[in-house]
Amino acid sequence: MCGIIGYTGKKEAEEIMLDALEVLEYRGYDSAGIAVCGPDGGVRIRKCAGRVKDLRSLCERDGVEGACGIGHTRWATHGGVSDGNAHPHKFGKVTVIHNGIIENYKSLIGKYGLEAELRSQTDSEVAAAVLSHFYSGDPYAAIRKTVLKLKGTFAFGIMFDDIPGAIFAVRNVSPIVIAKTEEGSMMASDVTVLGQYSKDYFVLPEFHVAVLRADGTELYDMSGDAVEPEWLTVSWDVNRSSKGGYPFYMEKEIMEQPEVIRETIEPRIRDDMPDLEGDGIPDSLLSDCSQICVVACGTAMHAGLVGKALMQSLVKIHMDVELASEFMYTDSLVDGKTLVIAISQSGETIDTLEALKYAKRNGAKTLAVVNVKGASIARESDYVIYTNAGPEIAVASTKAYTTQLAVLYLLAGRMAYVRGIFGEKELKEFTSELRKAPAVMQTVLDRREEIHYIARGMLNAKDVFMIGRGLDYSILLEGSLKLKEISYIHSEAYASGELKHGTIALITEDTPVVAVITQDKVQSKEFSNIKEVQSRGAEVILFMKESYRLDQDAVWDSVFKLPAMRDEFMVLPVSAALQLLAYYVSLDKGLDVDKPRNLAKVVTVE
Ligand code: F6R
Repeated sequence: MCGIIGYTGKKEAEEIMLDALEVLEYRGYDSAGIAVCGPDGGVRIRKCAGRVKDLRSLCERDGVEGACGIGHTRWATHGGVSDGNAHPHKFGKVTVIHNGIIENYKSLIGKYGLEAELRSQTDSEVAAAVLSHFYSGDPYAAIRKTVLKLKGTFAFGIMFDDIPGAIFAVRNVSPIVIAKTEEGSMMASDVTVLGQYSKDYFVLPEFHVAVLRADGTELYDMSGDAVEPEWLTVSWDVNRSSKGGYPFYMEKEIMEQPEVIRETIEPRIRDDMPDLEGDGIPDSLLSDCSQICVVACGTAMHAGLVGKALMQSLVKIHMDVELASEFMYTDSLVDGKTLVIAISQSGETIDTLEALKYAKRNGAKTLAVVNVKGASIARESDYVIYTNAGPEIAVASTKAYTTQLAVLYLLAGRMAYVRGIFGEKELKEFTSELRKAPAVMQTVLDRREEIHYIARGMLNAKDVFMIGRGLDYSILLEGSLKLKEISYIHSEAYASGELKHGTIALITEDTPVVAVITQDKVQSKEFSNIKEVQSRGAEVILFMKESYRLDQDAVWDSVFKLPAMRDEFMVLPVSAALQLLAYYVSLDKGLDVDKPRNLAKVVTVE
């Protein structure tokens, strides 16, 4: 989960790393640190609990000179949040930053008699100590011997006191990307941060050692043979990594949705129909499977739930959506006729990656829907469709989610066609409606102040319920997650019809209820369910299709009328509305919208 950066070149490393850590802060933000190899060869460390801005202040008071350094922003796993547990960790001649978890750190402490020598409670310092134990002048031998002793996941940036100007990198599962810049070499935990320095990067293969120097990078396998890196090009616009005048990334990313959805769907439409040939997806992948299973976590899993509702109604195929973290432990019934779709913004979520590997071992065909090019989940899958959302920096996912939905629409439409459920005419009509979605979403975004006004009524709520049926329920699960993660208000999404089976006991006049009605076939039932909560005193905030008529007898606290689309596409304008609702509640509560407490953007621990 942690962010890592390394730079060696002609410029001062401190400033470059502090800037990079600010961008990487979304990966973890409880402490930060840098180590710089000075002109005299000595390594100096500055680190502290707190944000990167605290580290910057520390460096302003007491900076470190040198053109080679490694830096880290932490999401604590082993060892609490403290200056001492912050990275980098130095042991003997070895300085280390680490992302991942060393599961056998306790047995390593015993085996190498480290107990009395460690100064932190982290598994990472243990890895530094083991490296130091094996280091006697040959860095490759020390790294090789160490990684053979480690159990768990790791991405390391390593400096040795007596090899000034060089950074070594090695990884298992946790990602590292390496770039060449005009005047040096850089490594990082993700490509978002490298885009402003270079367009050329490669993903460090697992169990390979890279050595970065000012004049370039060499790559070796575990036998010590040189390997040619597979260079990739950063495909997104670096301006997308800035806030672009918005107070928070989340607002910017919400507002970008019409554009990035267009960028996701338009290149995949030919002759007015979805065509996934450019992604290398053969129609046989979609026609030959007998069931589909999505594996994903959090928001990406919610995208899968919308996909399931679409696939089952349009394609008439059985589809499961599994929490990736549970998938391996529930005896899931995937086989050679199952198409497993792994959905992930980062492409690095370890639960999703492990679920995908499990599906492959069971013979399933695998397809990744991923935002970050070259990410582990993309590389592990048989096929990949990239969402063109660009970098998503806010911890709460917004545009990645709706571009995942866009891909699922393309897949559902194409699948219905290749399985003979849609003819050309139906597919063209479906595609034409999908193409309207960005403009329809834009009209919701343009009315964001109306939603801001509604949000003010929720600022003091302790509990919120969100109710809807069918696709509306699927989207509310996501709307509810968005609200709780950034506003810290407890919120639960409920299928409206289920409320009366127990949960309605919690409804009082202090519990605002957000209701969404956009599906014609359940419209009247949904209005009845709303009456049930209104008669128990709840204030109802209603998001409904503009063509529906309100019951004039009822008291309506807040109503937002959504521009109408075909029912199956209404999730897109509703998503935008619910994202804005959560955003404004968090903003008006004065919270750090982009970096909610306890969270990190990329979840690389199980
Ligand atoms: C919530 C959120 C998370 C992620 C989840 C999976 O706003 O962003 O729930 O969706 O951690 O992450 P990815 O999509 O990177 O696999």
